[in-house]
Amino acid sequence: MAEALVVRNLSKRFGGLRAVQNLSFSINEGETVALIGPNGAGKTTSFHLITGFHRPDEGSVTAFGREIVGLRPHDICAHGLARTFQVARPFGGMTVLANVMTGAFLRDKRPEVACAKAYEAIEFVGLSAKAHTPARDLTTIDQRRLEMARALATEPRLLLLDEVMAGLNPSEIDQAVALVGKLSKRGLTIIIVEHVMRAIMAVARHIVVLDHGQKIAEGGPKEIVKNQEVVRAYLGSGYVHVATAGET
Ligand SMILES: Nc1ncnc2c1ncn2[C@@H]1O[C@H](COP(=O)(O)OP(=O)(O)O)[C@@H](O)[C@H]1O
Ligand SMILES: [Mg+2]
Repeated sequence: MAEALVVRNLSKRFGGLRAVQNLSFSINEGETVALIGPNGAGKTTSFHLITGFHRPDEGSVTAFGREIVGLRPHDICAHGLARTFQVARPFGGMTVLANVMTGAFLRDKRPEVACAKAYEAIEFVGLSAKAHTPARDLTTIDQRRLEMARALATEPRLLLLDEVMAGLNPSEIDQAVALVGKLSKRGLTIIIVEHVMRAIMAVARHIVVLDHGQKIAEGGPKEIVKNQEVVRAYLGSGYVHVATAGET
């Protein structure tokens, strides 16, 4: 299978702080990979490095066969990488439709085309009933849907989701998990940063674990929850007890 993304020896320092250290991992096309780890581990910084919002001190990022380090965020998006932000940044006074159209304009400057594409993305995420609602009036889950719709409207091949399930209640998490599954079925390659482990287990076949900017483990969900280093740094011993209950 072709590789969608290859991250090699990526590093970023902020003054004396090593936010990301020598990070390497790769994702095949169509795969969903989770990036997990404690707060401050370097997950969001990794997204910033991959999508061009920060320039790495060292390392390379190859997306769909092209080196993208040094390209501007806009050009990286045009190359097929779209992201959501951990802190949602909609244009609050603008409607859902207008917000999503800003994404669609990346591919086509004609308003009627952007509008049609935006409606399609809005429907896909289940936000049609609120298409004309100002973004600032949305609930948390609808704001996350808007973030996803705006990213989807840029017609990405690789989608980076940063904590899109934070602050959702259990049934909303189920809805978000279903949405990610639907995106994956569409053939999208996805990197998801998330703390809700049951959501991670449901969507990702492969997990990369960061701690203090470094990759401390990588593997399938079952392997990862039993990994002693991951339990120590992130999950805590209670998690493994629950996760493996009933297993022989
Ligand atoms: N722009 C910045 N300037 C200085 N330090 C930063 C900046 N962005 C992130 N950091 C620091 O880098 C580390 C990793 O942050 P981040 O990538 O946001 O972690 P995570 O998303 O895993 O919680 C943290 O210690 C954070 O305080
Ligand atoms: Mg973060």
